[in-house]
Amino acid sequence: MSSILQIQNVSKKYHTQGESLLVLDGVNLSVEEGTTLSIVGESGSGKSTLLHLIAGLDNVSEGLIISCGIPVSELEEEKLTDYRLNRIGMVFQFHFLLPELSVLENVMLPAWMSGKTRQEAERMARGLLDETGMNERLYFYPNQLSGGERQRTALARALVNHPRLILADEPTGNLDEENSRVVEDLLFRLVHDHQSTLILVTHNVHFADRAQRRYKMENRNLWER
Ligand SMILES: Nc1ncnc2c1ncn2[C@@H]1O[C@H](COP(=O)(O)OP(=O)(O)OP(=O)(O)O)[C@@H](O)[C@H]1O
Ligand SMILES: [Mg+2]
Repeated sequence: MSSILQIQNVSKKYHTQGESLLVLDGVNLSVEEGTTLSIVGESGSGKSTLLHLIAGLDNVSEGLIISCGIPVSELEEEKLTDYRLNRIGMVFQFHFLLPELSVLENVMLPAWMSGKTRQEAERMARGLLDETGMNERLYFYPNQLSGGERQRTALARALVNHPRLILADEPTGNLDEENSRVVEDLLFRLVHDHQSTLILVTHNVHFADRAQRRYKMENRNLWER
């Protein structure tokens, strides 16, 4: 098995209004392909910051991140487009679906953007929406969906280009218990079926405990738990 993610001695410092805030201090992590890994930790401990660094949405202050064979922490913003579109899939607490697009179009969008024809994008999107149980809502708009349905659509969108690595930041954070359960089950099933790797941030310990590797973010670093 090969390592899909390597985080080497990564630190992150934010500078705001003349003050600097050290959020991550020398984080090391190596993740084998196909692993599910969870991170819990107090609010403000740096969990989202770490996911943003892995996604190349923010720059490290020190250290190196190699994800899917790409030195994410070394590349210019423009060079990360393909990585974000095709190698990783992201799911957040808030769905970020585009309100003016239907469920089907929202999920087709990343496939289109990665150069698929309209027909191929539609075929891929329908496939994923089938897997997330959203096939009877294809022409609904996001504001016509329940919270759980929105997250299931967001999951389909995150997976439509078959990314190797899935980054989920509190994907059930806005859902009631029943819908959380549905989305939890679905996330683990999709990761398994697609043989992808999952990094999951959650405040829900039961959800976190379903991952093969379990970490806690504390004192600016990751600790096994
Ligand atoms: N762009 C930024 N500029 C300055 N400080 C920031 C920025 N983003 C995050 N921070 C600070 O970094 C710390 C970690 O934030 P982060 O969002 O990673 O926490 P978190 O563990 O995801 O918390 P939560 O569980 O509430 O989502 C916080 O104290 C936050 O104020
Ligand atoms: Mg967060």
